[in-house]
Order: sequence, then C-alpha cells, then structure tokens
Amino acid sequence: MKKLVFLFTILSLNIYAQKFEELAQTPPMGWNSWNFFECERVNEQVIMDMADAMVSTGMKNLGYEYIVIDDCWQIAREESGTIIVDSIKFPSGIKYLADYIHSKGLKFGIYSDAGTHTCGGRPGSKSYEEIDAQTYADWGVDYLKYDWCNTEGQDPIKSYTLMRDALYKAGRPIIFSLCEWGYSEPWLWADSVGHLWRTTLDITDRWDGNRWGNQLGWVEILEKQNGLEKYAGPGKWNDPDMLEVGNPGLTINEARAHFTMWCMLAAPLICGNDLKNMPDDIREILMQEELISINQDPLGHQAYKIYDEGNFEIWQKPLDNEEIAICLLNLENCEKEFTINWKSLKIKKFKGPYLVKDVWRSQDLKDSESVIGISIPARDVVVYKLSKKK
Ligand code: GLA
Repeated sequence: MKKLVFLFTILSLNIYAQKFEELAQTPPMGWNSWNFFECERVNEQVIMDMADAMVSTGMKNLGYEYIVIDDCWQIAREESGTIIVDSIKFPSGIKYLADYIHSKGLKFGIYSDAGTHTCGGRPGSKSYEEIDAQTYADWGVDYLKYDWCNTEGQDPIKSYTLMRDALYKAGRPIIFSLCEWGYSEPWLWADSVGHLWRTTLDITDRWDGNRWGNQLGWVEILEKQNGLEKYAGPGKWNDPDMLEVGNPGLTINEARAHFTMWCMLAAPLICGNDLKNMPDDIREILMQEELISINQDPLGHQAYKIYDEGNFEIWQKPLDNEEIAICLLNLENCEKEFTINWKSLKIKKFKGPYLVKDVWRSQDLKDSESVIGISIPARDVVVYKLSKKK
C-alpha cells in the first residue's frame, strides 16, 4: 500500500521537469552561515569576509566553492509576492553579494523553506515557489538549501518536487539541497528531486548525545549513516549536515575525527565555522588535501563499517583505481592500541598486496603483507590509503 501511494505521488507530478542532472558529481564543498553565525549574527559583511577568507586561505584552490547564506536574509513579501530582503542585515541586496562572490571565482547559495515560514520565522516559499525560483535565478544563485519547518499537512515528495520544477523552469542550474531531516527517508525518493538530502536532525558542536532533544553530536549522526551507503553516488548525496570543525564545542582530536569521517562518508563538505578567525590547527584539518581527495573521489562511494567493537570502529571507502581508504575510529576517551593484520580485517574486495600510506602523517608504511601495531589517540582517527602494488 505504501509503495502504491508512493508510485501514485510520483506519477501525479510533472514528469517533464527534472533536476539539473549534471551538478554535484562529487560532494559539494563550501561554507554555510548557520552553524556559527546563526540568525543573529549573519549579515552582508560576514558573507563577504567568508568569501575573502575562502580565497586567501587557499581553501578555494582545494575545491571549496559555495558560499551559502542560511536563514534570516529575508523579511517579508511585496504584494506581488516577491520576497523582500532584510535591509538591515543585507543593505546592498542579495544580487550585490552574489556578484561579489562570483567575482572571487566562487559560487553562491541561499536558503528557503518548503513551508509558510522558515525555522527562524522568516517568510517561507510555500505558494511562492515559482516566483522565488525566478528571483534566485535572476540574482545568480547556484545552490538552494530548502528547509522543512512550518509544513503542517504538506507531503515532502510533493513540496520538494514543486520547488525542483520551479528551479528547472527558471532555467539556471542550481544545486538543490533538501533539508527535511530524514523524516520521510528521503534517500528512498529524493535522488530524482535534489542533489543532496539531510539524513538527520541538526548537528551541533558536540561529540555525541543530543542537546535539547533535537540537536545531535556528530558521532550520534555518524551512527545513523551506516547502511545508507547504497543510496549515495555522483549527483545524489546523503547529507549528515554541515561541519562543526572549528566551533568551540569540539577538541582538536574530535574535530579531526569529525572531518575525517565526513570525508569517508562522501558527505558534502560545507564548513560551518568562522573562516576569517580560524586557528592554524583548524585550517590544517579543513585543508587536508589527501582527505579532500578521498571525499571527492569520482566513484562517489560512501564509507561503510567493516568492524565494530563498540568504542572502536573501522570504516572502508572504496576509491577509484582500486584504491581503498580505511579509517580506524577510536570513540573511547583514552588511547587505543591495535594490531593491524590487513588480511584478517574483512576489507571488502581486498586483492592485495597494497602499498599502505598513513594519510594524516603523510607517511608511506610497509605494505599490506606486514602486521603493524598502532596506537590511536583518544577520540581520534588513523586513516590509511591502500594502493595496488604494481
Ligand atoms: C533548520 C535546519 C538548519 C538551519 C536552521 C535555520 O533547523 O535544519 O540547518 O538551516 O533551520 O533556521
């Protein structure tokens, strides 16, 4: 019955419209205002500063591309329905910002909501989908995050498809990021609607557990991703939410482990910290080139767990050229000793021997024929890249 309703819903939608197929062939990379600046502190200057920082830090050269304004840029609607920008926060208007961001060689993203109001209480796009999509296209928007607050009685497939079609009709290729918190299991239906979909409630800058019942620490979110790997691939990504790397609630080990696991998951790498005032150790995490290339691997495989002893896990991400990334994650708050015997690790499609590289230490190790003893610091990771030995 559930399947029939699903089929009927799909058929009753406009079958001629589609998403922009060629976008997000690897997980989108960029920055979003929400995790650090939230509603209160986001404004024009912040957005321009972040675009500048993305270039001056060298992040742009590593593939970070999208600068996304989250909630609270909008304030009301004109009688015609056109959205009105909050002129206190954004005095020069959104087109000005989009042009500024484009002039830096970056791309520009914005936020709206499928309901009557955004989560921050600003006007949502319900009943204004086409007019909003056209406005975004006119402004030069390249990425839309579309939230799910204040949607009582709405059907997610219909609501998101309505905006997909409006974007398609407006004609400007825009990455469509669904933020429905995983309620309707969007991994089962959203690959024809958007390019990425949130899988859980909001992340917060904590190791694990939840805050106020609806904000999750990143380890909590990580555990919900295992099993979803079959739904991800080029143009269609599970989104475990934006990065908390660099925000105050995580230690440096915790931040490194968080970034590493998001790279392993082929998660969108959307930074959520203050890029302008970023300490060197945080910059080094966000700019770890080899991990970024693991995240951006063209095959687009999401990592899965191959070993779990409660507070110690091993994840595998198959890579192009028969390479494999293996991540050992120590969830315990003390050091973990472990002996790696590659052949007994249950790595899928293991056809050694491989050359073994420790990614964080940038060090070539003995090959996969050798057994090694290692020690993983508290709440930290060790990542290996295995490449076929010629
Ligand atoms: C929701 C989303 C967040 C953020 C806020 C903005 O909670 O899940 O990512 O966009 O709304 O109000």
